[in-house]
Amino acid sequence: MEKGLIFLAVILHVTVHSQLLKQQPEKLSEDGRLKFPELADKYGFPAQQENITTEDGYVLTLYHIPGDTSKPVLLIHGNTPTGDCFIIRGNTSMVITLARRGYDVWVINLRGTRYSRKHVRLDPDRQPAQFFDYTFYEQAIYDVAATIDFILKKTGQEQLTAIGHSVGTTLLYVLGAEKPEYNDKIKLAISLAPICFMQNVRGVSRLGGPLGPWLIDLMSLLNIHEFLSYDQFTPLLQAICLEPFGYELCIKIGTAAVMGSDPDGLEPEFQKTLFGHFPGGTTRKTLAHLVQITRRKKFARYDYGAIKNLRVYNSFQPPEFDLKKVTMKSALFVGKEDFLSTPADAELLKAALPNVVHYQVLPYEKFNHADFVMGRYMTDNFYPYFMEVLDKYV
Ligand SMILES: *[C@@H]1O[C@H](CO)[C@@H](O)[C@H](O)[C@H]1NC(C)=O
Ligand SMILES: *[C@@H]1O[C@H](CO)[C@@H](O)[C@H](O)[C@H]1NC(C)=O
Repeated sequence: MEKGLIFLAVILHVTVHSQLLKQQPEKLSEDGRLKFPELADKYGFPAQQENITTEDGYVLTLYHIPGDTSKPVLLIHGNTPTGDCFIIRGNTSMVITLARRGYDVWVINLRGTRYSRKHVRLDPDRQPAQFFDYTFYEQAIYDVAATIDFILKKTGQEQLTAIGHSVGTTLLYVLGAEKPEYNDKIKLAISLAPICFMQNVRGVSRLGGPLGPWLIDLMSLLNIHEFLSYDQFTPLLQAICLEPFGYELCIKIGTAAVMGSDPDGLEPEFQKTLFGHFPGGTTRKTLAHLVQITRRKKFARYDYGAIKNLRVYNSFQPPEFDLKKVTMKSALFVGKEDFLSTPADAELLKAALPNVVHYQVLPYEKFNHADFVMGRYMTDNFYPYFMEVLDKYV
């Protein structure tokens, strides 16, 4: 725990002072240097870029690897990575694996992250307080909603399959609850490491309860709106993690404290790819919202404090998301060693969702939060179960 805390403090400190660092491409692997479309080219499935403007003005980059248009699949990344997380394992990545099986693959990049740091009116660098004033709530009801409509229109389909990882799954529950008409547009929602209830998190995130508010206040004080941005943090992680002892610090201590320990799944060599892509950026408000969910033990809208809640929601408490309205077919996959999406919390979610058609705690003992999208052994530990569900329902 203390190690984790020091790690957090260092990260926070550097957020404010890291503008001086530059990208260090010479330390990266080729795949670490390539962007999404170049990786897609390299592995034999060229991607097209689509640009979506949301109702509230954010401009999103959506990547598309064309396949059988009757089987559109949308991949939704979690909080802090980008759509890259689904392709950086190259030939064994989810994007390439799905493309090879003929699916029409679409990869979202949520607002504010590396490829979608754009708005029709707001400049993220000059107006960070306005630009980064969102949480996963807005990403769900604007970004994911607009993207689903775009894909259905392009493919002429009435439904698509949505695959979320981590907070990418949260977006599906928020969307289904807040805009119930979207339940019918989703043929199957596959949740990898679902995040909804967070009462049983393990590792450093347990500190989110007692220390979270303090951390968030500190970030406000330091005027941090955007957090873990691509431009600031990848150079930092390249400087720290790709040096001797970097693997111990970044993967064996840092990643293990947050995501659960499976160092074998993220081998030293892979860091040279990973830290060319991760992190992709999030907001203080998102972090604050996640801390609230951990502390309040309620899956609810952002808590502004009683007075402002009254103004925004017309009640002292933020309204809870009504999971009974999330009627889309859901398949949930959970890892035993996942510190963020624990089997205990996934059980709570399973009991709350009305239409769970598949629930599985994966058998591999060390399966952690990252292993779903960038684990070294996904092909053995995960894809067989995943493909069975896809073949059955999609
Ligand atoms: C999206 O924007 C990019 C960069 O501005 C551009 O190269 C690309 O052609 C656009 N895609 C479409 C389909 O308009
Ligand atoms: C990926 O796998 C395919 C088929 O196994 C192989 O032909 C190709 O060379 C591989 N691509 C790279 C870049 O490793």
